Amino acid sequence: MSERARVSSAHISPSAHYTGYVWYRHQLAEPAFVTAFGRLVHGLLAPIAWGARVGFGLDIEHILLQRHLQIDAQLTAAIEQGGVRQVVEIACGLSPRGRRFSARYPQLQYLEADLPAMAARKRLLLHGEGWLDGRHQVKAVDILAERGGKSLAALFAGLDHREPILVITEGLVNYFELPLIEAFWTRLAEQLAAFPQATYLTELYPDLREHPRYRQLRWGVDLVGRLTRGSYPLHYRNGEEIVAGFKRCGFRQVEVFDPSAQAAALGLQPARTPGLVRVIQASL
Ligand SMILES: C[S@@+](CC[C@H](N)C(=O)[O-])C[C@H]1O[C@@H](n2cnc3c(N)ncnc32)[C@H](O)[C@@H]1O
Repeated sequence: MSERARVSSAHISPSAHYTGYVWYRHQLAEPAFVTAFGRLVHGLLAPIAWGARVGFGLDIEHILLQRHLQIDAQLTAAIEQGGVRQVVEIACGLSPRGRRFSARYPQLQYLEADLPAMAARKRLLLHGEGWLDGRHQVKAVDILAERGGKSLAALFAGLDHREPILVITEGLVNYFELPLIEAFWTRLAEQLAAFPQATYLTELYPDLREHPRYRQLRWGVDLVGRLTRGSYPLHYRNGEEIVAGFKRCGFRQVEVFDPSAQAAALGLQPARTPGLVRVIQASL
């Protein structure tokens, strides 16, 4: 892995404080998930978010909720209809999903993972509230590590390979250039092949050049890139390219969901513009 990729990876972590505060604001998280930094950044970005909403019809928090709630819906179905009892959430940041689902489903094994500093912070947070136990744990991982203690192989080594597995990444993949992230997906598919049944959920912001707000979107993602001192590349042009990309990485079945098409089912207001985010469900 290049030094540049390693450095930009570390710069992504602060964004987890912002999204953590957004989940709290929308009653998806307990107050313990709020950090002073998250509250501060949310306040500083509020005028920009307001301008994007009023001026361009782009509601940043609505887009975040679309991805979060669509992933929740797919996870719920996998547990309730697919019998999944083992979940790994990579790049968990300060997301409350592990807490919410562990509390709701006592049969679930939920492993959260992130870069070492963020993982330590999350462990402290959950432990401090008495929410960690044998079923709900936090470990360190670096999706760019090809070997060693922080690699995917090390993270998956402790799991039950006789049970189906579901892996989530949220708010992660668009921070990396496509070759880097496809290499991660390929390593992930290799790990998942050792389980009797495996599903991966993630979200993507495709390069929708025909979208009526494309120019504003480009401006927004350039801003996210500058704030995280990296870039925010948009991957694939459409659903067909997404399916082909995941199949190249070793996934056999790929479904692409547009959360804006199911706003009511997700408990959201109808979107004012066509959807920008897609949730991908890929299985082996
Ligand atoms: C935008 S935050 C998203 C956090 C959470 N999933 C959410 O939606 O609220 C991105 C997360 O990716 C993590 N991250 C960045 N680079 C990573 C890497 N190389 N390996 C694992 N996690 C990484 C960051 O530490 C951060 O927690």
